[in-house]
Amino acid sequence: MRIGIPKEPDGQPLVSATPDTVGKLVKLGYEVVVETGAGATASYPDQQYREAGAEVVGPQEVWQAEIITSLDTPPDNKIEQIREGSVLIARLGVRANPAIAEVFARRNVSAISMDAVPRITRAQSMDVLSSMANIAGYRAIIEAANAFGRLFTGQVTAAGKMPPAKVYVIGAGVAGLAAIGTANSMGAVVQATDVRAAAAEQVESMGATFVAIPAPAQESSDGYAREMSEDQAKAALRLYTEQAGAADIVVTTAQIPGRPAPLLLTADAVAGMKPGSVIVDMAGGNCELTVPGQVITTDNGVTIIGYTDLAGRLPGQASQLYGQNIVNLLKLMTPGKDGQIVFNLNDEIVRSITIAHQKDVLWPPPPIAVSAAPAGGAGAGGAGGSGSASGAGGSGSLGASVDIATPKGHAARNFWTGIAAILGVALIAITPHEMLPYYIVLALAIVAGFYVITNVTHSLHTPLMSETNAISGIILVGAIISLAQSTSIVVTVLACLAILIASINIFGGFYVTHRMLKMFQKGD
Ligand code: NAI
Repeated sequence: MRIGIPKEPDGQPLVSATPDTVGKLVKLGYEVVVETGAGATASYPDQQYREAGAEVVGPQEVWQAEIITSLDTPPDNKIEQIREGSVLIARLGVRANPAIAEVFARRNVSAISMDAVPRITRAQSMDVLSSMANIAGYRAIIEAANAFGRLFTGQVTAAGKMPPAKVYVIGAGVAGLAAIGTANSMGAVVQATDVRAAAAEQVESMGATFVAIPAPAQESSDGYAREMSEDQAKAALRLYTEQAGAADIVVTTAQIPGRPAPLLLTADAVAGMKPGSVIVDMAGGNCELTVPGQVITTDNGVTIIGYTDLAGRLPGQASQLYGQNIVNLLKLMTPGKDGQIVFNLNDEIVRSITIAHQKDVLWPPPPIAVSAAPAGGAGAGGAGGSGSASGAGGSGSLGASVDIATPKGHAARNFWTGIAAILGVALIAITPHEMLPYYIVLALAIVAGFYVITNVTHSLHTPLMSETNAISGIILVGAIISLAQSTSIVVTVLACLAILIASINIFGGFYVTHRMLKMFQKGD
């Protein structure tokens, strides 16, 4: 199949594929056609696309491809050019405008809305909202530093001492954490607040201090924050006003999906801020005085940055991440690596983002239960109704996970449980009498292990792995002793098997740890 990469309309500096991601699409078996000048605003000349294996074509030809990828919903005149039976992959804004699904269903275009990727662990590599928020969080600090008339880092010089800038971030999701990391690396003293208590650990791991709202934290089962009660909102407003008065830079990213951005900084709070301080309102409505898309300075000398295109201000990098998100999606949807896209609607990711297919409107998708909180904890469970939620992490989709129980899944589980039971009984029947206690221990260990592992939150799986390594060590010693004393062929075989499996676990653990440590090592 052919993938078309059109030139984006004026005002959109990003492109949906870079030469690097084109190379990856070609490796998946696709032919790629790129419209002349599509990558120019992101500093990717046509020649680089040709070298990556794409054909550079005119505007008519690119829209004739079987798969079109773009940043946002194309203009009407371009939608009309898409051939029947083709696929469009873009941020279609279907949550805000569900009617868009009908437009594509009517035209028999399969539409994939990249901004509807569920926040589950398996989908993180395709989550364009997170990719863009990450870049935007970085850029928010760069814009703030540009508008701020002083250094971020503290210095002691012959001419005197300069204190570091104080940065306060409200909302520690993807954008907030990126802003914290950037401000911290520039030498500022960073504090952050989020309504989710789970965010505290993430804030601290980025080198900032977490300032909690003096009211119970809100967690929801869909990986995002819940709206606050009236008391919480009042306590939060007081805290934000107090913190903003002490800060040099305030970055606000607070957002609850499907709701307008909450008001966090009132005009009075801004009036209490120091002259020269800067607010970057990323969510667009967190500060009462924000003018979307503009930079204003208040009477008391506070600069308020309301840019809505922060990711677009780093077009090369943002395009690379967007393109990589699409490559990751197409890897999932091209199981044969043969350049043929497959719509497996049993896959929860594919189902969640396919809003129209074969003339059917598929929006909204069935809910997926995602949890940002440990299972059984406050707020966990229930959002989807169709499955159990487990996992840990935050709205930053760091570690959120999903567990879907379908009728098909239940049938398969029952089948394998039945087979295991029959094998167990058969094994007991042919086993020497003196071996029976071992089988009982084994059966109990399997049951206990199953319940322990399935009830441990995903974020604790690494420490759990260390525990299982220790248990494997004990198994290894026991198996070697049994082997030495063995007089029966069954014991010998079982002991050898135990040694093999425990060794795989131990050495595999070392190998995985080694790979994880390598991720933190610098090249030199
Ligand atoms: P996110 O959902 O990952 O993070 C939002 C965070 O705000 C969550 O951690 C949530 O718990 C927290 N929050 C919600 N209400 C709060 C409150 N009242 N007080 C404190 N914290 C609160 O969202 P993400 O991806 O980080 O995006 C943040 C915002 O940035 C969104 O509004 C997004 O549209 C916007 N954005 C803006 C860009 C721009 O160019 N201006 C570019 C990219 C994203």
